[in-house]
Amino acid sequence: MFRILVLNGPNLNFLGIREPGIYGSESLGDIENRLKKLAEEDGIELSFYQSNHEGALIDRIHAAYGNCDGILINPGALTHYSYALRDALTSVGIPTVEIHLSNIHAREQFRHHSVIAPIAVGQIAGFGSFGYDMGLKAILRHLDQRQG
Ligand code: DQA
Repeated sequence: MFRILVLNGPNLNFLGIREPGIYGSESLGDIENRLKKLAEEDGIELSFYQSNHEGALIDRIHAAYGNCDGILINPGALTHYSYALRDALTSVGIPTVEIHLSNIHAREQFRHHSVIAPIAVGQIAGFGSFGYDMGLKAILRHLDQRQG
């Protein structure tokens, strides 16, 4: 049974309230509940963590070392500049899929660049909260292929 950690960075606790035209009307809790149902169907163990603090996210990634098979992460704005978050992910060496609700490449220039993408298995952006569902499928496929 694969163990997957779903991480969300700064301001994602405000999903549903925050700029709904860009990020949609679902709360993070709604998304997590849907993922839990998907995970039950697929026999996956999911853990969730959201923080507005870079260091707390890094600590959670370190805590995943040795007891987690894959990470789904929406790093929020940290995507664009946090080398520390990127280094945490490479330090633990856990395969990671990067998720964004919005199409970051179609928005302001500063959002076009991700410091996480080069060390991720892949990036999903622009499909709203469905990106998390896709991300779960994608990380499972990746882990299955590695195992097989
Ligand atoms: C985001 C995109 C980021 O640029 C932004 O800072 C966020 C959310 C997304 O999910 O589309 O906080 O990661």
